[in-house]
Amino acid sequence: LSAVLSPTTFYLFKGSSMNQDQKKKAAAIAAIEYVTTGSIVGVGTGSTVNFFIDALAKLKHDIVGVVSSSDASTARLKKHGITVFDLNEVNALDIYVDGADEITEYKHMIKGGGAALTREKIVAAVANTFICIIDDTKLVSMLGKFPLPVEVIPLARSYVAREIVKLGGDPMYRQGIVTDNGNHILDVYNLEILDPPGLEATLNQIVGVVTNGLFAHRGADIVLTGTHDGVKKA
Ligand code: 5RP
Repeated sequence: LSAVLSPTTFYLFKGSSMNQDQKKKAAAIAAIEYVTTGSIVGVGTGSTVNFFIDALAKLKHDIVGVVSSSDASTARLKKHGITVFDLNEVNALDIYVDGADEITEYKHMIKGGGAALTREKIVAAVANTFICIIDDTKLVSMLGKFPLPVEVIPLARSYVAREIVKLGGDPMYRQGIVTDNGNHILDVYNLEILDPPGLEATLNQIVGVVTNGLFAHRGADIVLTGTHDGVKKA
């Protein structure tokens, strides 16, 4: 594993002026340190995770395989020749590695910018440790500037939207997007998310909601943030 997380790779970026992608890549490579030989790894979705998948490919003979949170990640993993298991074949996962759209100091997150929130939440639930990999633009003091994705059963879309308006949010139908589960996404603007676990539970009570992008009841355990000064762990 140390071959992948070589100091050379890590410090290549440190100190120089890094763009957002370089910060994402540095965080993703730092997460490789948590991958253990003979394990099955939970893999999230998104551009930051894509860097993780590419780094994980170098370890594909050291791990048993992965569980993936989206068709997009599965395709990338398989392209690298990494074995992808169905979650139903797996009893436990040591780690789940995924990005976030926003995260607070309490490790509560908004996720689902890539519409993969439901499978992400399910795979995360099975894992012992959620490792969140981000660049420093994702750190916020309060969640909600990033519109909160809510996955809904298509038939219930308008009903759920009306219920969300009653809660003070402005839901927008993410046109043209069908999730891997065959559902629709409402992106909810202008929510004041003062109580992330409370709102997560309230939204999930609306009939027709599959899940919402608040990851507060089960937040991250470890956050690896790519910054100009290297990767910071929290
Ligand atoms: C996908 C997600 C992603 O983790 C989130 O959108 C962050 O993506 P990126 O790494 O591309 O910034 O929740 O549903």
